[in-house]
Amino acid sequence: MSLLLAFVAMISLAPASLSPQASAAEVAENGNSTAVPSQIGSYQQQFLQAHNEARAAAGLPPLTWNFTLQLDSERYANELRNRCSTRPLYAWGTDGIYGRNLYKGTDKRRIPAEAVAAWVGEGHWYDRKNNRCTAPEDQSCEEYKQVVWRATTQVGCGRRFCRASFNTTVAVCEYYPPGNINGQRPY
Ligand SMILES: *[C@@H]1O[C@H](CO)[C@@H](O)[C@H](O)[C@H]1NC(C)=O
Ligand SMILES: *[C@@H]1O[C@H](CO)[C@@H](O)[C@H](O)[C@H]1NC(C)=O
Ligand SMILES: *[C@@H]1O[C@H](CO)[C@@H](O)[C@H](O)[C@H]1NC(C)=O
Repeated sequence: MSLLLAFVAMISLAPASLSPQASAAEVAENGNSTAVPSQIGSYQQQFLQAHNEARAAAGLPPLTWNFTLQLDSERYANELRNRCSTRPLYAWGTDGIYGRNLYKGTDKRRIPAEAVAAWVGEGHWYDRKNNRCTAPEDQSCEEYKQVVWRATTQVGCGRRFCRASFNTTVAVCEYYPPGNINGQRPY
């Protein structure tokens, strides 16, 4: 798990430092943005790359970035930051339309790689042959399966500092078409 985390972090952080654009989403970090960004920013790039490394490892085609999903993820993260929790919101307009993964961590710079590594790490509990999850009660395989869901083609993610604890960050990724269809294997 920690090895995997370090590995994913290394490969996804490398290109980020070369990326010149501080995206519109960065500027709106603690507010809500309504402007649709036209270019993928550095931390979005890290989210995308970490997903696609995990998918490539499973022999799956890469995801593309979708700004509609990014904006909805940012709005969702805006709500999560109020109580600094990854407990899903009671009702959200795009529930069931998009897949959604949530994460909370303390290292803002590494959040994209850290979040995706945590989700991918759930794969240890997933028995693909029997399509069964052996995770402990307070854990699941759902986030892992969403990352490697073959039919999913697009992703968009957002992150926000918690309101009461600025060194804690919540991250949200949304997926289309959504994964975790009952009874189906991810790939
Ligand atoms: C988003 O912006 C609108 C308009 O400026 C404001 O009324 C609303 O409270 C903001 N929402 C959040 C979650 O900050
Ligand atoms: C992004 O996702 C939205 C919602 O699913 C969809 O309507 C839109 O066409 C997608 N954009 C691109 C460029 O595929
Ligand atoms: C947040 O930052 C403060 C001050 O640097 C530190 O004391 C605290 O332990 C940090 N909290 C977490 C959860 O990392």
